[in-house]
Amino acid sequence: MSKMSWSQVDLIREAFHYQSRFDGATMVFKIDFPITDDPGFPYLMKDLALLARTGFRVVIVPGAKEWIDAVLLEHGMVSNYVGTTRITTTQAIPFVEMAAFHVGARFMTGLSASRVDAVIGNFVRAQGLGVVEGRDMENTGTVDKVLINAIRRVLNEGMVSILPCIGYSPAGKPYNVPSDEIALAASTALGAVKLFIVSVHGGLRATDYALPENIAVGENHHILKLTPHEAEAILKHNEDKPLPELRLALRASRAGVERVHIIDGREEGAVLRELFSNMGAGTMLYADEYEAIRALKSADIPDILRLMEPLMRQGILVRRRGEDISEKKADYVVFEIDGSVHACGALHDWGEGQGEIAAIATDPACVDMGLGRYIVRYLIDRAGQRGLHRVFVLTTHTQDWFEFLGFIECSIETLPAKRRHTYDHHRNSKIFALEIENQDKQC
Ligand SMILES: CC(C)(COP(=O)(O)OP(=O)(O)OC[C@H]1O[C@@H](n2cnc3c(N)ncnc32)[C@H](O)[C@@H]1OP(=O)(O)O)[C@@H](O)C(=O)NCCC(=O)NCCS
Repeated sequence: MSKMSWSQVDLIREAFHYQSRFDGATMVFKIDFPITDDPGFPYLMKDLALLARTGFRVVIVPGAKEWIDAVLLEHGMVSNYVGTTRITTTQAIPFVEMAAFHVGARFMTGLSASRVDAVIGNFVRAQGLGVVEGRDMENTGTVDKVLINAIRRVLNEGMVSILPCIGYSPAGKPYNVPSDEIALAASTALGAVKLFIVSVHGGLRATDYALPENIAVGENHHILKLTPHEAEAILKHNEDKPLPELRLALRASRAGVERVHIIDGREEGAVLRELFSNMGAGTMLYADEYEAIRALKSADIPDILRLMEPLMRQGILVRRRGEDISEKKADYVVFEIDGSVHACGALHDWGEGQGEIAAIATDPACVDMGLGRYIVRYLIDRAGQRGLHRVFVLTTHTQDWFEFLGFIECSIETLPAKRRHTYDHHRNSKIFALEIENQDKQC
């Protein structure tokens, strides 16, 4: 047997790392119909079966548009649309149901080949769209409710749940529901850690679109990852292009799905590569908790003084005046929600490669929502980007919290000389520090 190379060993390590990180997590795969006709489809099913067998909870939402079109055409029916939404007539709905379940069965057959059980179910409660732009949408519906308990029962048994693009009213009336809507609703209702949008288009290439500034582009002009904010900017710069995958990804991301991956289902191993290595071939949209953090403006100073005042009065924070903050304005950041400031913090560079994290305060109405942690992490990232190797804090009341964030108590001798000289011995704060290279795993 030939010896394993280091790169193979690294790959195995990486796979174990991701496997343990996502073990037991729910992942939703919205897979377009043309993928089921591709020669690579059995391999895609094999990979999803592998995930289901190794502890991931797999939910599949098949897109069936092209197959529904073909079935309707075969029966002499052509669909009308309002925008991109099909009007499913009362005559068409039995054929649409048949087509949707046929597509679901393709997935079930693919999984059976890997001996993984799957259930195609009536997991979606639907309601009719009614009249849209003056047109009766008849049997076209939208998601009323995803029946998560039923889906969870299937997943708990280690089986794969398949959600065809049909939902039922409480009275049992069938509705054709766009698979994008089902994928979106299922991902959020099930708290999926990931939504995969699997199409024949795959990840975005920078050469195909007008890009706003500062979008990171990888090899072959490939856009590896985007924040929702960046995705929004791309959609705005390319209004003439449909970009349905990016639109769905953005909606899912805004609805709270942490990671949405747009991949090409015809590429062998695309799901596994995207999931288990950092060399994925798709485009990932990731919820950016830093999005709400921005630089301090002069107009914010009264707001952060309002946050800090009770803490300064109690001696938890060092007293600062508006002028002190204004002088070091560039060091400060604020966390803004709906236009108002709810937390703040600062990073002061004291030289010798060290920065002080200070003035961390969260609005009492927003405690335990992660704002303080986001600000600290943001400031640690900022310190790293500025080439600092260590951040420290001086605290009288909050040592446990900083320890929880990975900071370690240290002595005054470890501070840069300038800070040692301004240290207030009367206040006698404890000193905690974090080496930047370790922050990734600790915070
Ligand atoms: C410390 C502080 C910034 C935390 O803000 P936050 O936005 O609530 O923080 P997060 O949501 O990220 O973290 C909350 C967690 O930390 C814990 N925590 C909060 N304050 C703590 C403290 N003083 N000691 C230990 N743990 C603390 C909470 O119990 C919570 O734990 P949980 O996630 O297990 O429920 C906030 O309480 C505050 O403004 N304190 C006063 C100012 C201060 O001490 N600043 C630091 C000196 S620079």
